[in-house]
Amino acid sequence: MNTMLWKLAFPLVLIAGLLVGGCQDMGMKPMMQKSLYDRLGGKDALTAVVDDFVGNVAADKRINGFFAKADVPRLKRNLVDQICQGTGGPCVYTGKDMRTAHKGMGITDADFNALVEDLVKTLNKFNVPAKEQGELLGILGPLKPQIVNQ
Ligand code: HEM
Repeated sequence: MNTMLWKLAFPLVLIAGLLVGGCQDMGMKPMMQKSLYDRLGGKDALTAVVDDFVGNVAADKRINGFFAKADVPRLKRNLVDQICQGTGGPCVYTGKDMRTAHKGMGITDADFNALVEDLVKTLNKFNVPAKEQGELLGILGPLKPQIVNQ
């Protein structure tokens, strides 16, 4: 590279580096990092994932009894909004909080794990990379104490 260009490029690279490093120091995501919502493919992809996932749950004899009287379209809408919001998307979840939504259902650890298995099956089917799968499960996993045996 000629020296003139280099003189211009060097400060730019330096500023970009400081920006990313600075954000990380402040515990923020670097500005260049796409949200998990975007990396999952946005609203259409998320809706397709939730559709397939709820289909898996409905076919899963281990847990489908819980959903016998469920309002499936509303459940799907709420799941899309919840995951969209939780992954940094532009939605607002307006459903019940997780403790209230699952209260008195007697959901066990095994039931919870079965549902997560059904979700992972969908994520694999949609070729969601391991990193994004891990991030999504890292958001949903901590909800477990609010859902199990409440
Ligand atoms: C991370 C795991 C889970 C998440 C994120 C989740 C999320 C939700 C959401 C958003 C709703 C709708 C709340 C509303 O209507 O306002 C819901 C309802 C419900 N969930 Fe879960 N849930 C989880 C695990 C489970 C498990 C393990 C079971 C049972 C095996 C279960 C059974 C139900 C049932 C039966 C309903 C009520 C559906 C209806 O009556 O329409 N959920 N859940």
